[in-house]
Amino acid sequence: MKDLYYSDYIELDKILNSQHPKSFESLEEGNDEMLFIIIHQVYELWFKQIIFELDLVRHIFVQDGINDNSDDMSRVVHKLKRIGRILELINQQVGVLETMTAPDFLEFRNVLLPASGFQSRQFRLIEAKLGLKMEQRYKTEYYKHTRRGSLSESDLQEVNQTESESTLKELIIKWLERMPYLDEGYWKEYKRSSPVDKQVTQADSRDRHKFWMDYRNAYQNSLSDTEAGRLREFDKVFFEEGKGDVPPAALRAALFITIYRNLPIFHLPFELLNTLSEIDELLSNWRYRHFMMVRRMIGLRAGTGGTSGAGYLEGTLSQHYAFREITEVATFLIERSKRPVLPNALKEKVSFNL
Ligand code: HEM
Repeated sequence: MKDLYYSDYIELDKILNSQHPKSFESLEEGNDEMLFIIIHQVYELWFKQIIFELDLVRHIFVQDGINDNSDDMSRVVHKLKRIGRILELINQQVGVLETMTAPDFLEFRNVLLPASGFQSRQFRLIEAKLGLKMEQRYKTEYYKHTRRGSLSESDLQEVNQTESESTLKELIIKWLERMPYLDEGYWKEYKRSSPVDKQVTQADSRDRHKFWMDYRNAYQNSLSDTEAGRLREFDKVFFEEGKGDVPPAALRAALFITIYRNLPIFHLPFELLNTLSEIDELLSNWRYRHFMMVRRMIGLRAGTGGTSGAGYLEGTLSQHYAFREITEVATFLIERSKRPVLPNALKEKVSFNL
């Protein structure tokens, strides 16, 4: 049998024969279009790997009752951290493209019309798989497939289909809601740290666990006069409406994990939540670098894909986050020494397995 050859194994011929600049015939008259094509292809390859990892993570989560102490949980964290490292790398790649100047880009910009990174199917799938919904996107009208420069009908359909499957965010919410740390059995010997009805009326306290009443009280004491309004927000977020599309029970679990992250059972869950915030941050770093680069390249001109260009990209920057509500749980943290002391029964339980 013939030995496997390197270039056959990675199908190098296909990859290396896929760069066809449209603005020049020969290398001598060449401009930066070659760089422009290669950098987009490299991005798309990394997007492919990110999607691969995200699909695996979603697959693991789809199982009911994923164990917080299990191999699965550490695999999930490991894969998400890998996505983080890839995002770091592709952030740095912007610097390579920035060696091209605005006049260099103008040499060939017109040959791409109306193609644009806006049409990157894989980028849209990453956003959708993480949990960004169409209605949360900035300028949804740009996505109409009938608009010149927008996604093709089949790409848009795929994005819509992906949104309707379990997104990572939805799976994380379900997992958080399942956390059994407030089961009554663990709390029999809990010692209240605040007078029972000091701050919460009888009606308010009906559905609230004694732990949360104590925590609310400690949070209230931590607020300065200028921040007093946050207490109302605390009630809204954790007991009434939740935030965005995340229900109160999931946000309570995220806060609980964050408060007691030093307990062994919460190490991995905390790492997981932290990595989700990191992914959001790295993606928005990319959006920012891309936006700044675009401003340098084309100033305030419209994009090849027909959006307003830099103005549009700046809008996505403040709006396109998948895990914003989880990250913003930090608003409701208190100092470590002020945390309610957990009952022993719970501490023992969470030292091993929940
Ligand atoms: C000279 C370099 C570049 C310029 C001037 C540029 C310009 C733009 C502009 C103006 C848009 C808004 C849509 C439009 O109207 O076209 C856009 C979107 C986009 N571009 Fe680029 N781009 C550049 C490089 C890249 C690279 C290397 C990538 C890597 C894949 C990329 C990926 C994207 C993506 C994913 C979007 C959609 C962003 C969103 O809607 O949130 N772009 N680009």
